[in-house]
Amino acid sequence: MSEKFARTLIVGGTGMLAQASEALSRTSRHLTLAARNPFPLARRLKADALPLDWNEHAATRAALASLPPQDLIIAWLHRQGEWMQPLLRDKRTPTGRLIRLFSSRSSREIVERHARLRENALKKGEQHVVLGWMTRAGISRWLTDEEICASVGKAIDSPEKALIIAGSLEPPLPL
Ligand SMILES: NC(=O)c1ccc[n+]([C@@H]2O[C@H](COP(=O)([O-])OP(=O)(O)OC[C@H]3O[C@@H](n4cnc5c(N)ncnc54)[C@H](OP(=O)(O)O)[C@@H]3O)[C@@H](O)[C@H]2O)c1
Repeated sequence: MSEKFARTLIVGGTGMLAQASEALSRTSRHLTLAARNPFPLARRLKADALPLDWNEHAATRAALASLPPQDLIIAWLHRQGEWMQPLLRDKRTPTGRLIRLFSSRSSREIVERHARLRENALKKGEQHVVLGWMTRAGISRWLTDEEICASVGKAIDSPEKALIIAGSLEPPLPL
């Protein structure tokens, strides 16, 4: 990750994305970690903690409203948190970027959407990282946290890429 960001927000960055959060703490002037309990990692990374529970919509809106516009937003949202996406889009600076991760569950839908909307996705300063599978000798496994964080780094370093597939999709999809 070579690019520098003035303000970065990571939603859901304290679990499998902790290494990505740590890397961004070195390349961002202000890093904010949003989760239900972001305090331990925020303390370790000297980042700001933004406690929120995406099941509590009004409180989550208020928490996000308290933040200034962000140059980079990374979002790992469970289904219950997907309603936050428009708020996160609006939270960007005019040149700000939103990188959203999707689990294998939604991979087919996302890849097909990109096949139709590649240009639009790029114009909106939005990138999607789809988490696939690692398959070796006919055996598939989920990605490790390291592999997932590496795909986030790749998205950060490749703003021109609207879609990044980490690992491979199963079953394989025509692109
Ligand atoms: N295809 C793949 O390879 C793939 C895809 C998906 C997942 N996985 C694996 O599955 C594991 C589990 O994934 P996970 O998403 O359950 O865990 P996770 O990424 O380790 O943690 C989820 C993140 O979201 C936050 N969060 C959870 N509920 C929240 C809420 N209601 N409001 C706000 N923030 C919330 C958590 O912090 P708080 O708990 O503090 O809120 C945390 O930061 C991962 O470690 C990964 O290895 C693999």
